[in-house]
Amino acid sequence: MRIVLGVTGGIAAYKAAELARSLIRNGHEVQAVLTRSAEEFIRPLTFASLTGRKVITDIFSSASPEATLSSSVEHIGVAQEHDLLLVAPATANILAKFAHGLADDFLSTLYLAFSGPVVLAPAMNDKMWAHPATLANIEILRGRGHSIVDPGTGFLACGTIGQGRLSENENILAAVEAVLAQPKDLAQETILLTAGPTQEPIDPVRYLSNRSSGKMGYALAQAAITRGARVILVTGPVALEPPTGAQVIRVKTAQEMHDAVFANLEPATTIIKCAAVADYRPAAVLTEKIKKNGIGLSIELERTVDILEELGARKGNRLLVGFAAETTNLRDYAARKLENKHCDMIVGNLVGGLDSGFESDNNEVLLALRGGVFIEVPKAPKSQIANRILDQLVKLRA
Ligand code: PMT
Repeated sequence: MRIVLGVTGGIAAYKAAELARSLIRNGHEVQAVLTRSAEEFIRPLTFASLTGRKVITDIFSSASPEATLSSSVEHIGVAQEHDLLLVAPATANILAKFAHGLADDFLSTLYLAFSGPVVLAPAMNDKMWAHPATLANIEILRGRGHSIVDPGTGFLACGTIGQGRLSENENILAAVEAVLAQPKDLAQETILLTAGPTQEPIDPVRYLSNRSSGKMGYALAQAAITRGARVILVTGPVALEPPTGAQVIRVKTAQEMHDAVFANLEPATTIIKCAAVADYRPAAVLTEKIKKNGIGLSIELERTVDILEELGARKGNRLLVGFAAETTNLRDYAARKLENKHCDMIVGNLVGGLDSGFESDNNEVLLALRGGVFIEVPKAPKSQIANRILDQLVKLRA
């Protein structure tokens, strides 16, 4: 495989040279990219000698010594030509840039143009690693489906002992191989996926909604893209960044979600309805803010359109996967939805608990399939649950 090895400026940069050698030993082609601060710790010539390729350095650099390519290299081309982006060591700075989409050097610009899998091996001072800003950035990057090789604990270059040292090369290599081993078994699929909540307006400042964060749906989108699918993501309002490579359509109301789904139905081979769509909306949307009047307030609600039901009637040869969010009787309700909505699979999850379902990073699901088959998937991160759901999809196609 063709791997971009990004090296950023930390004392552990010297370990990246051995990592490059190990990747090559494993049969990969390695294109090294050094940030300007990485060059303070290790010379490009080291990587050029190990990889047999010119090293890419800063995008804005004008000097181009023998062992480096600089502004003449096009980041889009490099992004398209490689299968995986590995950054080791990854400083707090590059994690922040990746998390927030800054593009002020070659590596951060390449990251934005890269749609393949990303493995990040952070290394920094223990306090920097534990800082809420770094933890929040890591959370964003994990949410995008990137593989994070957590730093190890031990003696740090700054003289303290704590968590922050670059993980052992064998762990980084194992993470790279695990990501590359993921099958591209959805390469023939165009998946129309809905995620997140809907918002049903009451007046210009209020709406009815629910607790869906979009995490489950976005995890499915990321996993499907990693496995080769084209993904059309119809998403309600969430605070997450959509996975790179997804075609994103943003909606607010159930009706808008309905319209977006049916406008994009034609190319879809599979539909996954993970969104938590409002079942009811205010019968009338007021044009002025409702004022307090000292007594109670009643709002008349009417049913929204049932998108899954309509899809069941119009699905043709497509695979249709619905979700069921229940607080009791999961098996019965999931089986009923499978039947009534003409689905090929229902992903049932109990909601209302603390560490699964809505908002959590984890989930625990019951897959209901035709023929009275039920498969329990125990609690795991949503990225793993997503892959178990997609595994089942692949089996349905076989
Ligand atoms: O977003 P997260 O915080 O990660 O949480 C994930 C989740 C709990 C939202 C997700 O796992 C989930 O269960 N999604 C479905 C939520 C839901 O609306 O369930 P339901 O049982 O009310 O609806 C059943 C199915 O009908 C769903 O596929 C839903 O998308 C669909 N539906 C519902 C109402 C409606 N008007 N139109 C629909 O298409």
